[in-house]
Amino acid sequence: MTNDPSRRIVFTGAAGGIGTMTRPLLAKLYPGLVLSDRVKPKDLLPSETFVAADLTKPDEVAALVKGAHSVLHLGGHSVEGTWDHILNANIIGCYNLFEAARAADVKRVIFASSNHAIGFYPRKKKIGTDVTVRPDSRYGVSKAFGEALGALYSDKHGIAVTCLRIGNVGPMPLDVRRLSIWISPEDLVQLFQIGLENPDVRFEIFYGASDNEAGWWDNSRAQRLGYRPTGKSEKFRAHAEAEQAKIGPDPVGDLFQGGAFASAEFTNDVKRAGP
Ligand SMILES: NC(=O)c1ccc[n+]([C@@H]2O[C@H](COP(=O)([O-])OP(=O)(O)OC[C@H]3O[C@@H](n4cnc5c(N)ncnc54)[C@H](O)[C@@H]3O)[C@@H](O)[C@H]2O)c1
Repeated sequence: MTNDPSRRIVFTGAAGGIGTMTRPLLAKLYPGLVLSDRVKPKDLLPSETFVAADLTKPDEVAALVKGAHSVLHLGGHSVEGTWDHILNANIIGCYNLFEAARAADVKRVIFASSNHAIGFYPRKKKIGTDVTVRPDSRYGVSKAFGEALGALYSDKHGIAVTCLRIGNVGPMPLDVRRLSIWISPEDLVQLFQIGLENPDVRFEIFYGASDNEAGWWDNSRAQRLGYRPTGKSEKFRAHAEAEQAKIGPDPVGDLFQGGAFASAEFTNDVKRAGP
């Protein structure tokens, strides 16, 4: 895929953290990327163009995706937030995106879901992508909603949808929990590529995780479609443990995959939480 306008790729949320980490890698693979956000990303590369759009405004989203072949949908509220924030950016915003994609005959959507859609699974349990969602927050619920929308638009309208339950993206894992869920920007771009190009994609859920020895997730479907992660969190164990020592224990969060997202606002008995 190159600068071919018939393969136009739109990247929402491009000014954010993941956008900033992956844009230089993506620019080499897909020159001509159309970036979008409410705010213009800094340091636009010569091959990139920018179109401002607010995901909560259907007309702006429709204008953005018109003529696009594929969408990398990362825009939205990226942590726990008030219901109002989550409702607008992640529920209404995500609906606007899929609906605009359908109307514009977009062929592929890659949706940035999150580990927080399954954050109430215990850390001791290894899970696949076929488990019932167990969100740990309003944010996690919005990601489960996005996955469900993806399934609907795939089954009903034939869009090839890939949902990435991203763990945590960065140059290295920042604490012990993230030794299990970390993904390098390079590995995330590999998953984007599968979503953008693999002919077998209809509706897929992959875990956005590198090759982590301490991992909790079975990502065999992604591997079958060609995913070959190169990041290994174990290399950074000493750093992650040193950082963890500064954080201290979280009696609820430490039991569950979602960590502090699970313990925030928690009023239950831990024995009754999770499967
Ligand atoms: N960073 C991670 O490790 C991680 C982990 C799991 C999932 N995710 C998901 O990946 C995506 C990107 O994450 P990030 O870390 O880059 O987040 P970020 O908060 O840095 O970036 C999100 C971007 O979305 C934009 N945005 C928010 N509301 C918008 C609206 N109404 N209209 C248009 N743009 C809007 C923001 O301006 C921002 O630039 C998010 O959907 C997030 O939930 C990220």
